[in-house]
Amino acid sequence: MQRRQFIKFCAASAAVSAPAIAAADASPRFYARATLVGEDGAPLAASALPANRNLVFDYPYEATPCFLLNLGRPLRESVRLETADHRSYVWSGGVGARRSIVAYSAICAHKLTYPTRQISFISYRAEASARNPHAQVIHCCSEHSQYDPARGARVVAGPAPQPLAAILLEHEPATDSLSAIGTLGGEMFNQFFDKFRFRLAMEIGPSAHRAVDGSARVTPLERYCRQQVKC
Ligand code: FES
Repeated sequence: MQRRQFIKFCAASAAVSAPAIAAADASPRFYARATLVGEDGAPLAASALPANRNLVFDYPYEATPCFLLNLGRPLRESVRLETADHRSYVWSGGVGARRSIVAYSAICAHKLTYPTRQISFISYRAEASARNPHAQVIHCCSEHSQYDPARGARVVAGPAPQPLAAILLEHEPATDSLSAIGTLGGEMFNQFFDKFRFRLAMEIGPSAHRAVDGSARVTPLERYCRQQVKC
């Protein structure tokens, strides 16, 4: 454990000045460890992740997709964030040898838009567009909430009331492998399962609510979804 590069929630909290009015912390939630594997089932090498590409894996449940992103630059800065119900937490940067790798729940914090197997209205965009001035954001086309993945997925535009929940990643330098171990921030899983109960049952079946354990398969978004909407 000492050699693993782990998101040190407590240490990072101490390193950032406390808010004037202390709010209850949004503590990290730990789930079963899942090694991130490629489509061939072999553990992914963190150093081989392509930069600025949408990669998706399901965690902590089989029906809850997450983005895995290599932003291609060191992300060492801790960021203090707040959930919609005013619980504070500190996101402490990227992992991997270059600290460039991050992961977030792909369930929009506004009205829970998420990538389905048929279509995705939410994805990471490296480039700005004529309509959207923000580059390097996770953009939800439903009502144009945009999140900065280099700063804990804080909201930079749109109606989302809180950042995307961060996925806690652990990097093992000896093997260059990555594992998901939990979440940090405002989870939306209960609302998600309530809202999409019928759809998930139809699309995924009874395993939709099953916890991921052991490994999580990482897939490029273009293979995870049949169609991507870009706005
Ligand atoms: S659901 Fe994403 S912006 Fe509304």
